[in-house]
Amino acid sequence: MRIGILGSGLMGGKLGTVFARAGHEVVFSYARSKRKLDELARNANGKASTGTPAEAAQQADAVLLAVHWLRFDDVLKQAGDLSGKLVLTCSLPMNEDNTELVVGRTSSAAEELAKRIPKAQVVSAFNTVPSEVLFGVYAARRKAVRPSLVYCGDDSRAKRVAAELIRDVGFDPVDAGPLRIARYTEPFALLIGQLAYDGEGGPELAYRFERFGK
Ligand SMILES: NC(=O)c1ccc[n+]([C@@H]2O[C@H](COP(=O)([O-])OP(=O)(O)OC[C@H]3O[C@@H](n4cnc5c(N)ncnc54)[C@H](OP(=O)(O)O)[C@@H]3O)[C@@H](O)[C@H]2O)c1
Repeated sequence: MRIGILGSGLMGGKLGTVFARAGHEVVFSYARSKRKLDELARNANGKASTGTPAEAAQQADAVLLAVHWLRFDDVLKQAGDLSGKLVLTCSLPMNEDNTELVVGRTSSAAEELAKRIPKAQVVSAFNTVPSEVLFGVYAARRKAVRPSLVYCGDDSRAKRVAAELIRDVGFDPVDAGPLRIARYTEPFALLIGQLAYDGEGGPELAYRFERFGK
């Protein structure tokens, strides 16, 4: 699959690297330094290159949006037409200093994104784990028990593709329902962040749901 990365920071850089290592063709875009993008592409050890956001998006089967909430408008403007594309978003609607959600209860970052690109198929995924755990999850992908990863969206075909990508990273995808469920997954991501960054075990934290009684 061809995957365009819009926002090549902690999340986009690592997820793009894992996607490339899993055999996908990745284009890294949207960082403040071209050198950083080149380095990511070089170190990905796979089919990875760099481009402008428009170049990353144009030929992509899937696009990963991994920018700060306040950069949505800018990156979308640079990416151009995303009609018909699967747009995965891991972005959380944080204030400028990343201390609080600025959208919640009646909407979510994922829904606000979908309103801006109504002809794209938005799926919210990867926002509930810290970037620090991604390489570890990928390295452990052949183990019998995988960590869970919740995702949600309104388009069933887009969700099937998203689930495949989630599996490629090493998670067990958990379909949480329509996109409006991001109203719950986004605050849940802050709980995970709290445990990862202020808890005792360090930030390489993932989670797993288990059902009992069956
Ligand atoms: N980090 C996590 O563990 C985590 C977990 C869950 C969800 N999230 C969410 O995921 C999203 C991305 O988070 P992140 O931690 O990956 O953020 P980040 O490391 O700051 O990455 C954002 C990317 O956007 C680029 N960027 C920012 N301003 C730009 C500008 N003016 N022009 C061009 N590029 C610009 C940054 O460039 P540079 O590379 O040059 O800085 C970087 O590549 C956020 O919405 C966050 O809330 C993050």
